[in-house]
Amino acid sequence: MIRADEGVSREGLTVCRDLLERGLVHAVRYFSSVDSTNTAAKDDLVNGDEGPYPKLYLADSQTAGRGRHGRVWLADEGTLTFSLAIDLAKGGIRGERAGLMSIASGVAVAIAVEQVCAPHMASLKWPNDIYLSGGKLAGVLVEAVASAPDRLIVGIGVNVASAPDRTALPGGAPARSIHQVAPGSGNRYGLLEELVGHLLSVWEQLAREPHSVLAEFRRRCLLTGQMVRYGTQVAEGGPIDGRRSFGRCVGLADDGTLLIESDGRSIGLRSGDVIQIRC
Ligand code: BTN
Repeated sequence: MIRADEGVSREGLTVCRDLLERGLVHAVRYFSSVDSTNTAAKDDLVNGDEGPYPKLYLADSQTAGRGRHGRVWLADEGTLTFSLAIDLAKGGIRGERAGLMSIASGVAVAIAVEQVCAPHMASLKWPNDIYLSGGKLAGVLVEAVASAPDRLIVGIGVNVASAPDRTALPGGAPARSIHQVAPGSGNRYGLLEELVGHLLSVWEQLAREPHSVLAEFRRRCLLTGQMVRYGTQVAEGGPIDGRRSFGRCVGLADDGTLLIESDGRSIGLRSGDVIQIRC
């Protein structure tokens, strides 16, 4: 089942059809332009849409792309922007494992990117920013709606052929694109099919053996061993408060919290914003 706007990219449409034929997704909503694929997916859930899931929301362009902590996500015609609405119960992802979906999604994006950019290895900045060659390459925004607790929306933006430095990031990290690291590696829709495949397989892995997913994250953790500055969130999904603290990141706990040692105390950061301090 595919619903596409007129004038969408032909390559994008071909990939959507492949994904449906292979049974990787069961419904597609493909926009030529939309405010945000996450918002579109959320609206459907709020309005009682019943899938079938996984349901792919793809957009050639977004007019109000959203990042974590209420930030704006800027994209151009070289950026891949999509969201997947999924049924957690159907995927066997229950309880604490649902809390690791964000970590797992970052791992899946990193693995997909590494296949295109070999031998470069991607890094993961907790909880789920994907870095490559010192710059941010992709971001993940996981959202839920209260009326559909078994569903989750995972939104992903990847700078595939995006203009470099089109966006300033907190902490001064530059934006990076796949084409800067692996020139001639294909357009944004070349990556979509692989990415969806890796997301589904890492989520499956999370349901069976979460420790192996955590190990994949730890292998790529950008912050472990680094001095960091962190701020906490007053409300889930809300802005970061003004208070800032400093410490050394010592790793990732099994429940996905980031472990920081600060003034002799051990802190587990559940949500918030962390910036590496270069000493
Ligand atoms: C971040 O880096 O803070 C997360 C960025 C997530 C961006 C993607 S693009 C597709 C989906 N729709 C949105 O509005 N945001 C996500």
